[in-house]
Amino acid sequence: MNEEQRRAHSKVNTSKKEEKDYSKYFDNVYQPPNLKDAKVRGKSDVVHSDFNIDEKFKGMGKGRKFYIKTYGCQMNIHDTEIMAGIFTALDYAHTTDVNDADVILLNTCAIRENAENKVFGEIGNLKHLKLERPDVLIGVCGCMAQEESVVNKILESYQNVDMIFGTHNIHRLPNILDEAYMSNAKVIEVWSKEGDVIENLPKVRDGATKAWVNIIYGCDKFCTYCIVPFTRGKERSRMPEEILSEVKELAANGYQEICLLGQNVNAYGKDLDIDYDLGDLMRDISKIDIPRVRFTTSHPWDFSDSLIDALAEGENMMPHIHLPVQSGNDQVLKIMGRKYTRESYLELVKKIRERMPDVALTTDIIVGYPNETEEQFLDTISLYEEVGFEHAYTYIYSPREGTPAAKMKDNVSDEVKRDRLQRLNRVVTHNTAHALSKFVGETVEVLCEGTSKKRDDIYAGYTDKQKLVNFTAPDDSVIGKIVKVKINHARNYSLDGEFIEVVNKNKVEI
Ligand code: 5AD
Ligand code: SF4
Repeated sequence: MNEEQRRAHSKVNTSKKEEKDYSKYFDNVYQPPNLKDAKVRGKSDVVHSDFNIDEKFKGMGKGRKFYIKTYGCQMNIHDTEIMAGIFTALDYAHTTDVNDADVILLNTCAIRENAENKVFGEIGNLKHLKLERPDVLIGVCGCMAQEESVVNKILESYQNVDMIFGTHNIHRLPNILDEAYMSNAKVIEVWSKEGDVIENLPKVRDGATKAWVNIIYGCDKFCTYCIVPFTRGKERSRMPEEILSEVKELAANGYQEICLLGQNVNAYGKDLDIDYDLGDLMRDISKIDIPRVRFTTSHPWDFSDSLIDALAEGENMMPHIHLPVQSGNDQVLKIMGRKYTRESYLELVKKIRERMPDVALTTDIIVGYPNETEEQFLDTISLYEEVGFEHAYTYIYSPREGTPAAKMKDNVSDEVKRDRLQRLNRVVTHNTAHALSKFVGETVEVLCEGTSKKRDDIYAGYTDKQKLVNFTAPDDSVIGKIVKVKINHARNYSLDGEFIEVVNKNKVEI
């Protein structure tokens, strides 16, 4: 039995308070998730291997269609592209109509309770479909599948789900599908204690202009509120040569922009046995003929001088950094386990601005952390103003089972939390509009992604600083190109403008 089979078939020794016996729901591979196991970190057992489809699975999807609904972050969006690649390699056709699908996957997000509620609502909606067409396979994957409580809830209340698999084994999709076809029971395969980096995964990318590129999986930061280190496992970097060859291939295929992905990209390379970090990777990527390079998400703790230099010097490095701060108060930051202070965050911002004076900074903020005082909340507002963030994603703290913060007693009422979010959002909206208003009369470079959401005679894309621009242009030849656009009007969240000319950013003629 190889390592993969061992992981798939060995039962995890769970130390559960839950006494219920869920084995009646299945008679095949049952590997329940376990948050305690998910916390176990070790460097030695990271396996780097290549994806292959077993001969026996080839053609499995002939005459069948797949449908995937994605919730959550860019990591999930990219995982969906990989699963779409695997389905396509198995000869499944894609459908955007759930009623027309033979396999339905929900790629789920666990970050906040409302994200999970949406998924349970959707699984409930699919009950009628399963009754009408019992042969349809319904699967739940992604971050929620890594949670023991979610799996147990599905087993108890959602008989229409046939497959549950987690974030670490999407490359086993062919095996999981095969097992689901062969058996009448549910297939549950969730690896809590992972360690693999799988290369050569097939992908069906969403669009031919911008591409996601994974550089590191997992997160070892364990901020006290966050479920991600449990659902996505420990930090595992891809080898630089694998990343660089993927970027070169995307450039050769005409992609104009890449976004490097990781839950904590700044930890890139730390787990490798070579002396190579995110700064080195950025320097190597800046030599590749791809016009735009972005990355997400950064943790302020690991933001090195070498990285700042690489970003400042690389011609294709975009002048926008998303740098989640979460709170502007030192005590709250400490309880959150963020490992930086307000002062050190401001120092980092200063350092970045010294090297990249024109950089646009955006952030993530959580309000209503357990026992957050009004004064502590006001520190967050004042930090927001002091940094001059151009935008923020703002959230009310949501307790996540298994995380340290979920055990904290909380004296802040829901009403106060909602009020704080509203007050913060007023500041965010005002500052976002103000940052946009500065572009009126300017000419900016926009990577045109297609037509606008509302009108097909208006084109849309993002500037180098990640501002959404809707603009008029003579025809659709602008799509997929970087173009100069004169900005005539600023709205709260976007800019309006008119096409001026195409910019050829590639060093090689295309
Ligand atoms: N509650 C609310 N927001 C959260 N985030 C992460 N975990 C939680 C939680 N438990 C937010 C953080 C993070 C973003 C992706 O989601 O701001 O940066
Ligand atoms: Fe993405 Fe985090 Fe949601 Fe998982 S929990 S899908 S990593 S946002």
